[in-house]
Amino acid sequence: MSEQNSIRDDFTLIKKGYTYFDNAATSLTPVSVIQRISDYYNCHNGNVSRGAHQLTRNASLYYQDARQKTARFIDAKEDEIIFCRNATEAINLLAQGIDWKAGDNIVTTLVEHHSNYVPWLRVRDRHQVELRIAQPNREGVFDLGDFKKAISDRTKLVTTGQVSNVLGTVNPVREIADLAHNKGAWLLVDAAQSLPHLPIDVDDLGCDFLAGSGHKMLGPTGIGFLFIKKELQYSIQPLAIGGGTIHDVARDRYDLLNSIERFEGGTPHIAGALGLAAAIDYIEKIGWDFICKKDTQLVANLEEGLKKRDYVTIYGPVENSKRVSLVSFNIENCRPHRVASLLDEMGKIMVRSGHHCALPLTKYVLNATAGTVRASLYFYNLSDEIEHFFDIIDFIHTNS
Ligand code: ALA
Repeated sequence: MSEQNSIRDDFTLIKKGYTYFDNAATSLTPVSVIQRISDYYNCHNGNVSRGAHQLTRNASLYYQDARQKTARFIDAKEDEIIFCRNATEAINLLAQGIDWKAGDNIVTTLVEHHSNYVPWLRVRDRHQVELRIAQPNREGVFDLGDFKKAISDRTKLVTTGQVSNVLGTVNPVREIADLAHNKGAWLLVDAAQSLPHLPIDVDDLGCDFLAGSGHKMLGPTGIGFLFIKKELQYSIQPLAIGGGTIHDVARDRYDLLNSIERFEGGTPHIAGALGLAAAIDYIEKIGWDFICKKDTQLVANLEEGLKKRDYVTIYGPVENSKRVSLVSFNIENCRPHRVASLLDEMGKIMVRSGHHCALPLTKYVLNATAGTVRASLYFYNLSDEIEHFFDIIDFIHTNS
């Protein structure tokens, strides 16, 4: 059996005949991740860091191991990883936890997913903080001058996605980090879309904070994380405090723990953290060489085939694009939701359609008010699946 076939056997929905091109919304889950979650409930179902019996001790060890693995995956330290529900919660933790002063400013971009945009609008409204928005060109690509103009001595935080969920483009994070740090600002990277596709080293990226979601990188839903550089942890207030975050409580005061657990109020999603660790094991077993090679090959096939069709509009850069295996497009005379429904009905092909939770981008940069169709691929997809997808969009076009 070829390596590719044995990989595809690890995903039950692929074996059931789905062609899954909606990986930017959520990736498929390998059986080893599902197995790890069910093992936790079947064999080790204890709470963590609470009590002395063997189930709680074992669960605590597995949870700690999951934190170590997540840290290692991005070259961070174990005590720099806070588990939370998803990248959205990670970003909100930071938005609520920074001690904003009137007159500070935040720099975000027009390419962001809502989760890295809306929380900053709320900070602006609550704290008299200015929100500055770096604007890309019509293809969604940034010139560093856009950031240079926006970042000032009063910038407290610069925040950007590493990979756009609509265009798949890869932003120049290292250069943005240098611009931010030169002005004394912090950099947050929303890595929800990059973590599945690119090996990440937080030191190389130069970020101070990084947010990720488990379910886009083969893990379960409901688990994500925030990386916070160790030396900044006391500058950030936790989002939720209570059980598990406390060093001591008296009648009229409390002391929070000095450890990273101060940020994880209440019983955490233990099974989710274990599932995320299993997803990391799976990615490391497949290896970045294979993942990156497949990504490059799949996106080349997809772009090339779409470009050949004069009834297709591709969004984002068309020449020399640096993008992961994700392309947004539209078909002449057929609305995005209709294209997506027909791809499902006629070919069991799953794509996302609409504005992809990135309205500022679709409205003001792409001018695609009805949204786009987005095909987002991963290493388990095949060139043959892309050919089948082309046959169906040709049919849709001919008959619309
Ligand atoms: N952020 C996810 C997407 O782009 C939900 O589809």
